[in-house]
Order: sequence, then C-alpha cells, then structure tokens
Amino acid sequence: MYTDVLRFITKRRSIRRFTGDSVDRQLLVTALKAAMAAPSAMNTQPWQFLVVTEAEAVKAICAAHPYAGFGERAGAVILPFGKKEGYAWFDQDMAAATENLLLALANLGLGATWCGMPENLQAGVRALAPIPDDNAFFALIPIGIPDEDVVERTQYDDGRVHWETYVG
Ligand SMILES: Cc1cc2nc3c(=O)[nH]c(=O)nc-3n(C[C@H](O)[C@H](O)[C@H](O)COP(=O)(O)O)c2cc1C
Repeated sequence: MYTDVLRFITKRRSIRRFTGDSVDRQLLVTALKAAMAAPSAMNTQPWQFLVVTEAEAVKAICAAHPYAGFGERAGAVILPFGKKEGYAWFDQDMAAATENLLLALANLGLGATWCGMPENLQAGVRALAPIPDDNAFFALIPIGIPDEDVVERTQYDDGRVHWETYVG
C-alpha cells in the first residue's frame, strides 16, 4: 500500500511535450474535483479555474508566458485564479489545489506542467483570458496527451530531514 501511495505521487512529473490531441473534458472535470478536495485556511476555497480548450486560444495563452511556450501543442490550459488581495493564505491554498490537480492529471494519464504566474505576467495573460480586475492568476498549466517518457522518482534526501531537533 505504501508503495502505491508513493507511486501515485511520483507519477507526477513536468511534461512539456504533447501529441497535439484534444483532452477529454470528463478527465479535466475529474482533475478539477481533485483540486477542489484540497485543504484551505478556514475552508475559504479561494480558487477559481479558467479552463481553455480551443486550440488557438491555448497556443496564444501559452505563448504569452516566457516559459510556457512548450504548451503550443497542449489540448488544454487550466489557469487557477482568485482574489488574492486581503487574503493572507491565498498562495498556500492555491498551491494545495494546484498540486492536487497535477497529481490527478498524471494519474489520469495526462501530461502537465505547473508554470508560475508572477506579477509581471498577469496583464499579458489577462488580455487573452479576462478575469475580474481584483483577481490574479496563480498558475498556468498546459495539459495534453504526453509525447515524452519521464522517469518516476522521489528526490528524497536524508540530509533535508531533521528528526526531533535540527543539528546544523
Ligand atoms: C511555482 C512553480 C513555477 C514553475 N514554473 C515553471 C515554468 O514557468 N515553466 C516550466 O517549464 N516549468 C515550471 N515549473 C516546473 C519546474 O521546473 C519542475 O517542477 C521542476 O523542475 C521539477 O521537475 P518535476 O516537476 O518533473 O518534478 C514550475 C514549478 C513550480 C512549482
């Protein structure tokens, strides 16, 4: 059982090559259910998800991000977003949901990569994928049928584990 749990986690790797085929909508809904199973502070659930599947729009949105151009052959892009201003736990809640989403996608046989959305990229993506003014994108996630093989692995490192007390 422990092996199964670990495999579920290590199946998630960043996938940046896609076949160009479309992605089944029901698989995306299943992954979004996983995302919305995430914990959030006081169960605030600050998340919203913009799901884009139209090929030209997917390509344009990925091209608007300096490190997401690889998504030009993705079948979808999901943009988790929400109202960040005034909510101290926004990043932590959104990260929990985003990781749940990625774990589910990988175990559904889909490839995806978490691309960060810093302040300087917000306007460019917003121009192509409008969201309310007081909301911010948390991530940009190209999703597709994988066209590359990646090795499943943990990056476990004993040196980063401090049992009972930290000894420098
Ligand atoms: C906050 C965050 C931002 C990231 N931004 C990008 C990105 O803009 N482009 C990209 O190709 N990968 C991005 N990545 C993916 C990392 O490069 C990747 O997770 C890391 O190299 C480890 O590889 P793995 O995901 O296969 O385990 C990002 C990951 C995180 C968590």
